[in-house]
Amino acid sequence: MIPAKTIDDILSAARVEEVIEDFVTLKRRGVNMMGLCPFHDEKTPSFTVSPAKGIYKCFGCGKSGTSVGFIMEHEHLSYPEALKYLANKYNITVEEKEVSPEDRAVMQLTDALYIVNNFAAEHFTKNLLETDEGKAVGLSYFKERGFRQHTLDQWQLGFAMSSGKAFTSLALEKQYNMEHLQKLGLSTQYESDFFKSRVIFPIHNLSGKIVAFAGRMLSKDKNQPKYLNSPESEIYNKRKILYGFYFAKTAIRKADECIVVEGYTDVLTLYQGGVENVVASSGTSFTVDQIRLIKRFTDNIKIIYDGDPAGIKAALRGLDLVLAENMDVRLVLLPKDEDPDSFFKKSGQDAFTKYLDENAKDFIDFKTTLLLAEAGNDPIKRSHVLRDIVSSIALIPDAIKRAMYVKQTSSKMEIEEAILIAEVEKDLPEIKKGTATTIS
Ligand code: UTP
Ligand code: MN
Repeated sequence: MIPAKTIDDILSAARVEEVIEDFVTLKRRGVNMMGLCPFHDEKTPSFTVSPAKGIYKCFGCGKSGTSVGFIMEHEHLSYPEALKYLANKYNITVEEKEVSPEDRAVMQLTDALYIVNNFAAEHFTKNLLETDEGKAVGLSYFKERGFRQHTLDQWQLGFAMSSGKAFTSLALEKQYNMEHLQKLGLSTQYESDFFKSRVIFPIHNLSGKIVAFAGRMLSKDKNQPKYLNSPESEIYNKRKILYGFYFAKTAIRKADECIVVEGYTDVLTLYQGGVENVVASSGTSFTVDQIRLIKRFTDNIKIIYDGDPAGIKAALRGLDLVLAENMDVRLVLLPKDEDPDSFFKKSGQDAFTKYLDENAKDFIDFKTTLLLAEAGNDPIKRSHVLRDIVSSIALIPDAIKRAMYVKQTSSKMEIEEAILIAEVEKDLPEIKKGTATTIS
């Protein structure tokens, strides 16, 4: 807890124009200052700061608030986090009350783990850029895949040597703790390296700290997984992390949309090609935590599926929960045998974006189309599809949206609307029963 007196000190020190000028170039206009709004795309300034009133307001997108509000919004911080940010800027000491010894121990451990991961990332990038093996094997692989130096640097891509001991030995020599190395999965229980002969993709959390690594093998060895991931740890909960989110968050807010793909390389190719609002769910199906993370930035999700329908049905199962979160989700199926990486390289940014726009379907439509194609004309299978769709529609919290989907499904499946409405009603949770599912 931050003491009230300290909060007062922070609020009176943090002049709104000074705080904002760290992020936006402001020009004086009379008593106010103006600049380009950081929260939406604009060519002429409508973002206004009033030093006298201590507030900002954008006449384009309507966002407004105080200096603390600005930091919360822009840096995606909670209220106490924003206060600490400002305290730091103005050299105000925040003496938090009541941090228990247990809390302190956890903080010390997580700090130590971040430091170890940083050391590992630096080691992997050095391998990639400065060793003969790294250059010949890892760097040439990344270059062949079309990743530019700037991309390699920005995303801290690296390489793990084939030797199998190099990293762990160096880490111990530098006094890193074996327990930490093992917790993070960087060293095995036999004290050798976990990642061997793989290119390395660090995984960052929302504030840009490295919480885990993924390593892609370069040989065609069928007995090994293509990608190897760090295990979960005090700092890595894979259900809560989306690969690329740290780099994508500003673009997600600006575009008011988050594009979700399956793979690490898909994220990198799109990002490098100018589509920056992109993240990957990284080998797991989408979780509620990931969706809630996105929801802090936008309500609009576009999920791109590789063009192999076999994998999609399984993925769809987990997606009902997006409906329950009341998000606007649209789905795109790529042409057969393409993934976002290959398709983007073939088509270029404009054609790629156009394809997404033209082929994005809402969840219910996407699911109906996919399941119906599979069921063909078999009436029993079609009735199963209908049941499945009905239970999805019933999950939608918003009654108007529900009603629209009922209408759409009724025409698509050639089923009377009244029957569908009755079915959806049955599936609604008790407290929503009786709320409209019709639009007249
Ligand atoms: P893909 O096999 O489609 O790989 O797996 P990719 O991303 O296209 O990779 P490249 O282009 O061959 O290098 C999609 C995603 O599934 C997860 C990874 O996140 C991968 O990017 N995955 C896949 C794993 O976690 N482990 C695996 O063994 C395979
Ligand atoms: Mn691929």
